[in-house]
Amino acid sequence: MTDGRICVLGLETSCDETAAAVVRRAPDGRGEILANVVRSQWDEHRAFGGVVPEIAARAHVACLDVLIEDAMRQAKLSLCQLDAIAATTGPGLNSGLIVGAVTGKTLALAHSKPFLAINHLEAHALTVGLTENRRPPYLMLLVSGGHTQLLFVKGVGNYVRLGTTIDDALGEAFDKTAKLLGLGFPGGPDVAKHAARGDGNRFALPRPLVGRKDAHFSFAGLKTAVRQLAKSLEPIDDQTLADICASFEVAVTDTVKDRVRTAMVLSEPLWSECSQRALVVAGGVAANVRLREALDALCAETGYDLSVPPIALCTDNGAMIAWAGAERLNLGESDPLDSLVRPRWPLDPDAPPAIGAGVKA
Ligand code: KG4
Ligand code: ZN
Repeated sequence: MTDGRICVLGLETSCDETAAAVVRRAPDGRGEILANVVRSQWDEHRAFGGVVPEIAARAHVACLDVLIEDAMRQAKLSLCQLDAIAATTGPGLNSGLIVGAVTGKTLALAHSKPFLAINHLEAHALTVGLTENRRPPYLMLLVSGGHTQLLFVKGVGNYVRLGTTIDDALGEAFDKTAKLLGLGFPGGPDVAKHAARGDGNRFALPRPLVGRKDAHFSFAGLKTAVRQLAKSLEPIDDQTLADICASFEVAVTDTVKDRVRTAMVLSEPLWSECSQRALVVAGGVAANVRLREALDALCAETGYDLSVPPIALCTDNGAMIAWAGAERLNLGESDPLDSLVRPRWPLDPDAPPAIGAGVKA
């Protein structure tokens, strides 16, 4: 655009959502979503109780072009009116990343536009700039099916990782717990639904890593404890099922609250001149009401502002990819067409490895 506004198409194919969106960034940094189209693949993966990479990649191939057409139609723009094309190039599932990256590069080449290779985690981290014009610095809790991280966001491209999971992601823990209890996929919403009518104090489940001086997470042991508990209670009646789900949620919530509190302490030297502290939450697990209430209480107690983007923008979407592209383009950045996908792509390459971690990013 010639008036200083930047329009970017963003493509997301890193996991089990295929998404295309167009956002516009004004010169004062304000963002606007012109189109945001997401197609979830849950139906394709449900029978397997988890995301199957090959099925995911094929599903991306099958619908990405249609979603791009839909997004451009909704945005009332033609491809040649865009300022850049952005696509997620990591971290995520290799074959899915390739679909979005090749599509994005091809459109960029065909229309002589800059290409932006976007880090999916960076896109989550910057979404609050789009939704509420919030600018760094802030502390970020990312809790999704694939990632569980605490990051200090200093600026675009400038992140300090304070904590990560040493085994399962939080969403994964919800999904695996749901599976072993015979609930649906994805498991988070189902566990939450049953938990809402359960007694969270009936069963004492572990609070992994609570009290540790670092801000890492671990959920594998909690999941195993739920498995053993469920086995010992068989056959499980409806109320017991609800009480297990609620006790799991309470254990998770206590754990996350403790880890975030620790990250708040660890982040203290990083805020420099900034006096107002803020916590931003993103990822699909941000939909969990008990978790949000706990974080709300923690922020009220510690004097932090709490920002949670609307759930549709907390879960995977193209708008966050387009927005990260717009922010980077605004800084004069773009990426070469021969840039590779990066299934592992840490936002903070200097972060010391978390002991025992099968760290994904
Ligand atoms: O960010 P997201 O949509 O996708 C990726 O991980 O890529 O997150 C999905 C995760 C799933 O693990 C799902 O079970 C979880 O978010 N989730 C929830 C809730 N809604 C979705 N977990 C707990 N409570 C919920 N209400
Ligand atoms: Zn995500």
